[in-house]
Amino acid sequence: MNFLDKYQNIVSEAVENYRFNDQPGELYAPMNYIMAHGGKRMRPIMVLMACELFDGNLDDAIKPALAIEFFHNFTLIHDDIMDEAPLRRNKATIHTLYGLNVGILSGDNLLFKAYQFFLDLEPILFKKCLKIFTDTGIVICEGQQYDVNFESMSNVSHDDYIKMITYKTGSLSAASLQIGALIAGASDEDAESIYNFGKHIGIAFQIMDDYLDVYGDQEAVGKKHAGDIYENKKTILYLTALEHANDEERAELDYWYSKKTDNVDKIYGVEKIFRRTKVEEKVLRLVHQHSETALEYLDKIKVAPEKKQALLELAEYLLKREK
Ligand code: IPE
Ligand code: IPE
Ligand code: MG
Ligand code: MG
Ligand code: MG
Repeated sequence: MNFLDKYQNIVSEAVENYRFNDQPGELYAPMNYIMAHGGKRMRPIMVLMACELFDGNLDDAIKPALAIEFFHNFTLIHDDIMDEAPLRRNKATIHTLYGLNVGILSGDNLLFKAYQFFLDLEPILFKKCLKIFTDTGIVICEGQQYDVNFESMSNVSHDDYIKMITYKTGSLSAASLQIGALIAGASDEDAESIYNFGKHIGIAFQIMDDYLDVYGDQEAVGKKHAGDIYENKKTILYLTALEHANDEERAELDYWYSKKTDNVDKIYGVEKIFRRTKVEEKVLRLVHQHSETALEYLDKIKVAPEKKQALLELAEYLLKREK
């Protein structure tokens, strides 16, 4: 069994133990629905891996790991409302099944449930973890707002994009690893290195997520093909195409990204320009660059190299992922 299987099993068993039987069922059924459909569970795995890297006790890290996964699922419910997404993990999204109000409220409740998982930590650790967790939540909201703002902006730069994805995605993988490290009592220096490793893995992961929106197999990814194009998302695919487009292609991109429409001609037109400007290979090169930066931070951590194997395996899996 590889490292990932081991950690994935621990997380799914722990999630199973927290199925909700509470009332009103209208609130709890959607929460059970999204938690039961799994996903990769990479963030709780990061908490556990970081804890073990610094010789911590895994039992101490399980509840904080669940906190992160509940929180992540809360962000997904609300993200799907904001992105008007019909599908997640190959299932109908919560707001399409149960309506907007239930989407908002079941998301909120998952967030509060996430906080409850920290309550068993001893006071000093509790305060440290809660600070990271809360600060991260705030940064994610800021990132999500930039993401929405960019939909109607035509002058988004590469740096704007990197900042936005660092906030909305890099911050949570960074925080997951940092929390795991703190629980194990890692030094401040090592906790900072692992935070930066997580930040750059998260950046590479979000670039890959943008890539899969167009180049992934819909069935494997579990989300609507080209959803980002329908929503005028200023992803790295769009920015790269715009940078390398000729005048005519740029005008066509401007035309399509000035309207939200379900017209498949939009997808054909935009994907054609992506092909002509060789977006695919350029974006994969960028994923590689950010994952190299991440690995430099992993190198800095002062533990025996063989103990880093699990995190290396996770990084490899995330960046070669098909879903
Ligand atoms: C989706 O995260 C949101 C992003 C930050 C891209 P994941 O791709 O980790 O989603 P699941 O939990 O595995 O479904
Ligand atoms: C989501 O980014 C980031 C957060 C949920 C904070 P995306 O909007 O790209 O994620 P997907 O593609 O819907 O999973
Ligand atoms: Mg989305
Ligand atoms: Mg989004
Ligand atoms: Mg996406």
